[in-house]
Amino acid sequence: MRDRLKRTDGHTLVFPSILSADFASLGEESAGVLQSGADGLHLDVMDGHFVPNLTMGPDVCRCLRARFADACLDVHLMVSYPEQFFEPFAQAGADHLTFHLEVMNSDKAAALADDVRQLGVTAGLAVNPMTPIEPVLSIADQFEMILVMSVQPGFSGQAFRPEVLEKARRLREQGYRGWIQMDGGVGPKNAAQVRGAGVDVLVAASAIFGLPPDNRPGAISGLRSSGE
Ligand code: DX5
Ligand code: ZN
Repeated sequence: MRDRLKRTDGHTLVFPSILSADFASLGEESAGVLQSGADGLHLDVMDGHFVPNLTMGPDVCRCLRARFADACLDVHLMVSYPEQFFEPFAQAGADHLTFHLEVMNSDKAAALADDVRQLGVTAGLAVNPMTPIEPVLSIADQFEMILVMSVQPGFSGQAFRPEVLEKARRLREQGYRGWIQMDGGVGPKNAAQVRGAGVDVLVAASAIFGLPPDNRPGAISGLRSSGE
């Protein structure tokens, strides 16, 4: 198992989503945030079917891996047929693959988590804002990470939906000890609240790449520690 997604007690991970990077300078944009204290890169994969947008495929992951041998590459599969992409992304150097519960039932999700781990990468399960957390509670322990979406997936720059914080609290209350990731509209105004709900992996696109490069180190450390 690749182990770049390391648990360090009390350390909140910050993963910039490269969806808001300047794609014409993706290498420089990625190098910049990694040197600025990011714990890895979040790759938003969209298929134009599960979500109304198209983004990146395994070749982008492969190029990032070739350039950043040690970076944690966290792949978020917003696609209708995620199993089609497990092997291509694992071979392209992904460390972690998250897929969505909305395209399957809980039994299948748990079985696919094993398929992902067989490829030597960790597995995550994502739920959209409108999807209840109850079906996740019984299978959460099969996943190294649960991703609680805080916007309807598809585009960066949307407003954070605070009502989803309750899902993270429920996961922690029932004893879930894996990573809880939150993705969508996360920024300096809500990061303390998000961490307070038990979230320990923050994804942010526009709150990091929307700033000039010189301001990105402060934005990353601010997400990790604001309000402390
Ligand atoms: C949502 C994606 C997110 C998104 C975050 O469809 O999964 O990763 O790009 O963008 P911001 O942080 O700008 O809401
Ligand atoms: Zn994402």
